[in-house]
Amino acid sequence: MQVEEIKNLFDLSGRVAVITGGSGGLGRAAAAGLATYGASVVITARRVEALEEAAAAIRHGGGEVLPVSCDVTDGKNVEAMVERTLRELGRIDILLTAAGIARRAPAEELGMEDWDLVMDTNVKGTFLCCQEAGRVMISQGGGKIITVSSVRAILGHPLGYAAYGTSKGAINLLTRQLAVEWAKHKINVNSIAPCIFRTPLTEPVLSDPESAKVFLDRIPWGRAAEPEDFIGSAVFLASAASDFITGQILYVDGGNAAS
Ligand SMILES: NC(=O)c1ccc[n+]([C@@H]2O[C@H](COP(=O)([O-])OP(=O)(O)OC[C@H]3O[C@@H](n4cnc5c(N)ncnc54)[C@H](O)[C@@H]3O)[C@@H](O)[C@H]2O)c1
Repeated sequence: MQVEEIKNLFDLSGRVAVITGGSGGLGRAAAAGLATYGASVVITARRVEALEEAAAAIRHGGGEVLPVSCDVTDGKNVEAMVERTLRELGRIDILLTAAGIARRAPAEELGMEDWDLVMDTNVKGTFLCCQEAGRVMISQGGGKIITVSSVRAILGHPLGYAAYGTSKGAINLLTRQLAVEWAKHKINVNSIAPCIFRTPLTEPVLSDPESAKVFLDRIPWGRAAEPEDFIGSAVFLASAASDFITGQILYVDGGNAAS
C-alpha cells in the first residue's frame, strides 16, 4: 500500500451514505461526520421539518445532503426511500441505521403496545433498511452496513429496559447474521453500541440527577457521551480502514461494557 492510499483510508469521496434517524442526535452526528469525509448523505426520518433543519446544518458545513422522509417500520416507505436515493444519487455504498426508540417501564408493567413499538422500530425497521439497501449493495458488488446497538444489548439495567434491551440484543445477532450471509457479496456489516449519549432520546433520564447517576456510575470514563463521540466509529466503519472487519459490535461506551 502506498503512503497516499494509507492517508486516504478514511476518505469517503464519491460514496453515497443513507442514514436513518438522520434528524436525531446520533444520526445527525454520523451524517455530519460522513459528509465531512466526502460522502453524499441521505438523511431519513419521519418529520420533514426536523430533516430540513438537520440538512441545513450539513450544507452549512459544506456537505452534500438529501433529506428524504421515511418511516422505517413501513416496508413500502423504505422501498420508496431507497428508490429515491438511487434516482437522485445513483447508488448506495453505506447504510447507517440510527432510527430507534426507547420505552422504559418496569418489566411487570410493560404494555404490549410499547413492546411492539420498540420491536417494530428497532428490529423490524433496521432489518427492512438492511434488506433494501443490502439488495442494492449486492447488485453493486459491495458496501458497508452499520447498525446501531447499545450496551443494553448485553447488560441488564435497573431502570426498566426489557423491550429496549431485547431489541438491541436482536440487533447484535442480526449484525452477525448479515455479516456472515453477505461476506460473499463484500458487504461489511458491523454495529456501533453506545452507552448513554446526550441526545433527545436520553433527555428524560439525564435531566433527572438520580437516574443520571444510575447511568454514569456504570461508566469508568465518568461522563455521558456527547453526539460527537459517535463520529469516529461511524467514519471508521464506513471507510476502507475497516475493510477486513465484519460482524463486530464496537462498544463506544467509556468502558461501560468492560466494567
Ligand atoms: N442516545 C443514547 O444514549 C443511545 C445509547 C445507545 C443506543 N442508542 C441508539 O442510537 C439510535 C439513535 O438514538 P438517538 O439517541 O440519536 O435518538 P434520537 O431520539 O435523538 O433520534 C432517533 C431518530 O430516529 C427517528 N425515528 C424514530 N422512529 C422512527 C421511525 N419509525 N421511522 C423513521 N425514523 C424514526 C427519529 O425521528 C430520530 O431521527 C437509536 O437506535 C438508539 O436506540 C442511543
